Amino acid sequence: MIRLGIDIGGSGIKGALVSVATGEIIGERFRIETPEPSTPDNCAQVVREIVEHFDYHGLIGVTFPAVVRHGVTLTAANVDKSWVNCDAQQLLRAATKCSVTVLNDADAAGIAEMWFGAGQGAKGTVAMFTFGTGIGSAFFIDGTLFPNTEFGHLKIRGKDAEKRASAKVKEDKGLKWKEWAELVNEFFVEIDILFTPDLIIVGGGISKRFDKFGRHLKSNAEIVPARLLNDAGIVGAAMAASKLHK
Ligand code: BGC
Repeated sequence: MIRLGIDIGGSGIKGALVSVATGEIIGERFRIETPEPSTPDNCAQVVREIVEHFDYHGLIGVTFPAVVRHGVTLTAANVDKSWVNCDAQQLLRAATKCSVTVLNDADAAGIAEMWFGAGQGAKGTVAMFTFGTGIGSAFFIDGTLFPNTEFGHLKIRGKDAEKRASAKVKEDKGLKWKEWAELVNEFFVEIDILFTPDLIIVGGGISKRFDKFGRHLKSNAEIVPARLLNDAGIVGAAMAASKLHK
C-alpha cells in the first residue's frame, strides 16, 4: 500500500510516496519552500501543488509543528499565528480534494521510528525528541502513542526547554557539542524525574551528528539516535493516513 506523506516545516514543505508496509520512500521527494507568510491558505496551496506533482488521489498524511487535535491546529509556536484554532484537516481536504489526516510533526516522526527505526519493538515508556528550530516530543507506552505531549515547552530554569536546548539554540549561540549536550541533559533530568522513560530516541536533523554529542548525553534511560532522520515525518504521516499505528 502506498500513501502520500507531507511534512510542513518552518523552512520547507516536502512530500513523498511511502510504502506503508516497509516504511520506504518510493521515488523522489518533492520540496517547496514554506511560503511567507506561512498562513494556512498559503501553505494549503503548496500542499495542493505537492499533491498535483505526484498526481495523487488517495489518503494523505500531513505533519504540522504544533498541537493538532482532531485535525484542528491549536497552537503555533514557530509558525504563523493564524494557524491557532484552524481546522487544518478540513482546509487541506478542500485544497487537495483528498482525505487528509493532520498530526503533530514529532508524533509523526515518533510513529515512524517506532515502526521502522530505533524504537522498533520497544516496550515500556519511549520518549522521542526532535531537536530542530524547537524541540518536539512523542511519547509511547508499549508502542501506543500519547499524542501532543509538547515537552519542548517544559520549563527549564524559567524558560521553555526549546529556548534552552533546541538545535537552533546551539547554532545561534555557536555552542560546542558538549556545551549543547549539557543543556539537553538539564531537560533530560526533568523528563527522568517526571516520566522515567525506558528509552529516549534523539531525532531531528542534528541526530545525524549523534557521534559528536551522544557520549555527552546522560539519562537513566537508554539513549539512541533516530534512524530515519529527515524522512521520519513523511513516513509517519503516511502511516497515520492509513491509521496503521497504535
Ligand atoms: C511545537 C511542537 C512541535 C515542535 C517541533 C514546538 O515548538 O510546539 O508542536 O512538535 O516545536 O517542531
